[in-house]
Amino acid sequence: MIGVFDSGLGGLSVWQEIIRILPDVPVIYAADSGRCPYGSKPKEEIIRYSREMTQLLVDQGCRLIVVACNTATAAAIRALREEFDLPFVGMEPAIKPAAEASKTGVVGILATEGTFRGQHFARAREQFASNTHLIMQVGHGLVEWVESGQLDGPEVEAGLRRYLEPMLAQGADQIVLGCTHYPFLRPVMERIVAGKAIIIDPAPAVAQQALRLWEALPKGDQATSKQPYQWFTSGDPDRMSNFLGQLGFPAAREAGAIRMVKEITHE
Ligand code: DGL
Repeated sequence: MIGVFDSGLGGLSVWQEIIRILPDVPVIYAADSGRCPYGSKPKEEIIRYSREMTQLLVDQGCRLIVVACNTATAAAIRALREEFDLPFVGMEPAIKPAAEASKTGVVGILATEGTFRGQHFARAREQFASNTHLIMQVGHGLVEWVESGQLDGPEVEAGLRRYLEPMLAQGADQIVLGCTHYPFLRPVMERIVAGKAIIIDPAPAVAQQALRLWEALPKGDQATSKQPYQWFTSGDPDRMSNFLGQLGFPAAREAGAIRMVKEITHE
């Protein structure tokens, strides 16, 4: 089984890619929506939460963990790799493909404070964007909109315009989504940047990496189960259920496939 976790519902953008390219593999998704957002929290706290989410997935029998959260990857993936004896896939800020594709030499990136603070980001920037003008913008409020299921409308559009239009005005022709919640706002973003910039979502590349590591696991670890998809949340299961409904899984709650994190962790 593959385990995928995020601070909330955003990592479902990565989960969707994984189940698309690995349709026969059971995947468990765990959302820490009760403690979301992670983006503005101290590193130590994010490490603690990430450890708990990983443990939950390991206890369910997962043999590969996808940290479908840029913020948790930045803060915690190194600690997780040290503590758990199983492979991890983390989020990569897609600076390299953006810098390579940019004709103007200007790239916009939207992410959380925690991601911009991390060494991961600093390294990628140094390695791949030394000749690129990188416009870094924290997406204040975007995670909260996605968590509440508000994916469009005048308020969302105005908020996104505030972030994207200055990037366009400075000549950005590539916009990187550096947080897994943001792809759910992509249709609105596409309307704003139409014809001026390309939006880059690293989720497909991360899913490909998950596929490679899954196929490299010993056969005994690639077990399948009868119920292919299960979801956990530390937040409101109705919200998760509604969100999954929008993604094409309308009966998840009725089928008992959504469970509360605390049923397992006894928090
Ligand atoms: N989905 C997240 C990320 O990729 C987390 C956002 C947050 O919890 O602040 O960064």
